[in-house]
Amino acid sequence: MPNLPIIEPFRIKSVEPIRMTTREERADLLTAASNNLFFLKSADVIIDLLTDSGTGAMSSEQWAAVMRGDESYAGSPSFGRFEAAVQEIFGFQEVIPTHQGRAAEHILFGVFGGSPHVIPNNSHFDTTRANAEQSGAIALDHPCKESEDTCSAYPFKGNMDLKALAATLEANKGNVPLVMVTITNNAGGGQPVSLENMRGIRELCDKHEIPFFIDACRFAENAWFIKQREHGQSERPIRAIVRDMFDLADGCTMSAKKDAIANIGGFLACRDKELADEFRRRLVVTEGFPTYGGLAGRDLEAVAQGLNEVVEEDYLNYRAASIRYVVEALHERGIPVLRPAGGHAIFLDAGRFLDHLPWQQYPGHALALEIYLEGGIRACEIGTVMLGGKDALTGEETPAHHELVRLAIPRRTYTQSHMDYVIEIVDAVYKRRASIAGVTIETSPPVLRHFGATFSRSGVGVTA
Ligand code: F0G
Repeated sequence: MPNLPIIEPFRIKSVEPIRMTTREERADLLTAASNNLFFLKSADVIIDLLTDSGTGAMSSEQWAAVMRGDESYAGSPSFGRFEAAVQEIFGFQEVIPTHQGRAAEHILFGVFGGSPHVIPNNSHFDTTRANAEQSGAIALDHPCKESEDTCSAYPFKGNMDLKALAATLEANKGNVPLVMVTITNNAGGGQPVSLENMRGIRELCDKHEIPFFIDACRFAENAWFIKQREHGQSERPIRAIVRDMFDLADGCTMSAKKDAIANIGGFLACRDKELADEFRRRLVVTEGFPTYGGLAGRDLEAVAQGLNEVVEEDYLNYRAASIRYVVEALHERGIPVLRPAGGHAIFLDAGRFLDHLPWQQYPGHALALEIYLEGGIRACEIGTVMLGGKDALTGEETPAHHELVRLAIPRRTYTQSHMDYVIEIVDAVYKRRASIAGVTIETSPPVLRHFGATFSRSGVGVTA
């Protein structure tokens, strides 16, 4: 049998045209957008890799399910199907729909957050951190040591540092209301968390009698990595691995915009009925009645169907292959890219790519701007602009763990030739990297600054 390429396991029934732009147009568009890629119009983007969130292509079965959507305010059968899908796949009996992941986080931290609480996570994603901090709690990241090296082949770089977690739990006895783990670890490069690591977290939670919640956004991708890489898992169905992961937890938050391949949606789920009722009391105030939670019946249907499609192995094999394909091609050309390939995105190591720029000149942001300028590809900085902190004593800005640029791949949306284009554009930027200038933040909102900040080009060199 020849070694055949892994092909897209779908045919294309409906297409969206892409408008081509010139480099000159893009230079003007960047200026008009104050050098913030979030301010661009999507029609001015050739390949949009800003996020894999809500940008995937729904299947014909999902569109069929949309037509089945029942829009009753209370007791919709669409909620029944949504609830049953979550119960069956995740094993949590209490299912609370929300309009997206951050709404679930808001409700979760409304219950568990607040000062002087400390919330440990392998790495909080930006909205998770913002919700925890806005409640008055302190959000602590405990990524494993192996994640520091962006080149090492360690198979589970998303793992939590269990020693650091144990120390946090000891040092903050009584003040840690729950432990979270993000699968896959988005801020840490879309890297997976092993079952073994989750068992370790569970043990520590049991010892301190605190609940364990999973940020489940990319749960199926995480399960696929466990199947590929964890001892004794290679013959097991993805659904069984998913259940093993969630059997270790007391609940989860989920953005259905990722591994439910829907354009909107999310949920909170847990085992404890009393806790769920508290979540529901809060849900009614801000999201909606517990059988729709801010979603239309048609959205609930799309999520229920998507959850069942995302755990299919043909889909997951293709998904991982398409990302690995770009990562390996860039690596072969000597371009600094986070390896091994993650689950939903290609992460360029901008700190090494633009090693002439100090972190204070935001190399990740500078690189993302150049990739747009070069080829109209919109990427996202995941570095100090997004995740930088503040020194508690001096108030000075502190850098993120890594200066990354994320090329997030929407699910089932782009083909291999789009990926070939991405490889060529990143390579062209790499060849002229020495002349790339840094950036300065001109204005910045107080939270989630990457969404609203304005930037100017600065620092060494002149952008060619
Ligand atoms: N948790 C993780 C790990 C995420 O990646 C996201 C969203 C959320 C929670 C929040 O979910 O968007 O439905 O409110 N991440 C997107 C991204 C925005 O581009 O990575 P949401």
